[in-house]
Amino acid sequence: MNKLSYVVVTVLLACLVSDSWAEVSRVQLIPKANFTRTKSSVKAEKSLLAAKYLKETTTGPTGRYLVLHNYENVAYYGVMSIGTPKKYFNIRFDTASANLWVPSMNCPSTNVACYQHAKYDSSASSTYVANGENITIKYGTESVIGYLSTDTVRSNNIPIRSQTFMEATYVPDSFINAPYAGIWGLAFQSIAVGNVTPPLDNMIAQGQLDEPLISFYLRREGTAVQGGELIFGGIDSTLYTGSLTYVPITVEGYWQFEVTAVDTNDVTLCTDCQAIADTACPLIVVPEAAYTDINDQIGAVDNGDGFAFVSCDLQSSLPDVNFNIGGTTFTLTPSDYIVEVTDDDDNTSCMSSFTYLEGNDFWILGDVFIGKFYTVFDKGNSQIGFAPAVTS
Ligand SMILES: *[C@@H]1O[C@H](CO)[C@@H](O)[C@H](O)[C@H]1NC(C)=O
Ligand SMILES: *[C@@H]1O[C@H](CO)[C@@H](O)[C@H](O)[C@H]1NC(C)=O
Ligand SMILES: *[C@@H]1O[C@H](CO)[C@@H](O)[C@H](O)[C@H]1NC(C)=O
Repeated sequence: MNKLSYVVVTVLLACLVSDSWAEVSRVQLIPKANFTRTKSSVKAEKSLLAAKYLKETTTGPTGRYLVLHNYENVAYYGVMSIGTPKKYFNIRFDTASANLWVPSMNCPSTNVACYQHAKYDSSASSTYVANGENITIKYGTESVIGYLSTDTVRSNNIPIRSQTFMEATYVPDSFINAPYAGIWGLAFQSIAVGNVTPPLDNMIAQGQLDEPLISFYLRREGTAVQGGELIFGGIDSTLYTGSLTYVPITVEGYWQFEVTAVDTNDVTLCTDCQAIADTACPLIVVPEAAYTDINDQIGAVDNGDGFAFVSCDLQSSLPDVNFNIGGTTFTLTPSDYIVEVTDDDDNTSCMSSFTYLEGNDFWILGDVFIGKFYTVFDKGNSQIGFAPAVTS
């Protein structure tokens, strides 16, 4: 069961997709005042807070495993550094955009999202190289504004020399209280604003990875310091069962691929549909027709904002949703796709993870999907692979 101790009202449950076709959702989440904390949730929150001040955390045999922190199952982030000496940032890894940005020392302190987070100070870094080109990165209706700079970027102590990134001088309010300072885009250069070479491409070009790919393992156990792993240059077969099913990337922009079919209750929701895998999207965004069909099949009622709710009592009787990708069936059960949301009056409601954004005709498979299925983003072979993730 996915639980959210949040009210559906105002921090984004939105998907970070850099372009204008996906409108950022207006339904947002704010922390619930005085939510009932359990001993274990308090412990997890404290560790998470402590983790904000941690240096890079590495596990695994190769040292290429970056530990991801899980924030309420809605955001996963890790630690990276920029500059010499290293300045550390919590960063959200986003496979649906292609730029790296962090707040700049030159972002005015009146900008709350900048004020709250770590900031890059080029004058403090001996490896800084000026660029100065102004760019704007759009995520749906929101924009982050700043200018380009070049420096050494590291994640897991893997150095990326001469990486160009954006120092943000304006960060929108949706980043206020976010547990991460900025975004590390992992998509293809064709969608990088300013045609900047993405960090992953430079990592590969500079020979830092054993294999030209990354893989994600996201735990679904709520807030946790050890909330998942991003493996640079490797695949860990102990983190999934069976074998990986690969399908080719259809358009190298997002990590876009074809889903052969999606069905539930023997009703086909789509055939030969285009989908993208988006690690910075908590839910699953579907085209409007599929949204209507899914809600009909699971008896969910739209709240007017592109989110649909079902009675929690009915949860166990809801149908599975099956994705046929490359000939393999990937199944989401109700406990995977139903999220419990607690509001200010302590009413618990059950939200479907299948949401809808005006104007979007792709399937955006976010953390609800990637958490269930270990995902390999294979740049070298321009393909994406999935296999059932192990649960702990
Ligand atoms: C929340 O908790 C604080 C401190 O325990 C208390 O002062 C406040 O009145 C509570 N607010 C609500 C809405 O219950
Ligand atoms: C970038 O924007 C700033 C602030 O608007 C402006 O002062 C500066 O001249 C711009 N730089 C370039 C290279 O256009
Ligand atoms: C939520 O709780 C309040 C106060 O307990 C109650 O009046 C209201 O009807 C509940 N709303 C729903 C949708 O159950």
